[in-house]
Amino acid sequence: MSAIDDPHPPVRVTPYQDGPYLLRGPFELVDQDGNVIEAGRRTIALCRCGRSQTRPFGDGTHKLVGFAAPSGAERRR
Ligand code: FES
Repeated sequence: MSAIDDPHPPVRVTPYQDGPYLLRGPFELVDQDGNVIEAGRRTIALCRCGRSQTRPFGDGTHKLVGFAAPSGAERRR
């Protein structure tokens, strides 16, 4: 089935500039062993700075540590 034929909208993942990945569901979040990680909401922030105290979720620490990353794709040098 192609994405065009799928009646369900795809999960949208948005990297925010200098911030987390925002996931807008519905989605299923699982660890590497396939265990479900309860998100409790249809929109969540996943940490990409690595410093959150609630990983894999973000907690706003990226602002305190000065995390910097573009929203779009980075260009290879
Ligand atoms: S990206 Fe926000 S706490 Fe890591």
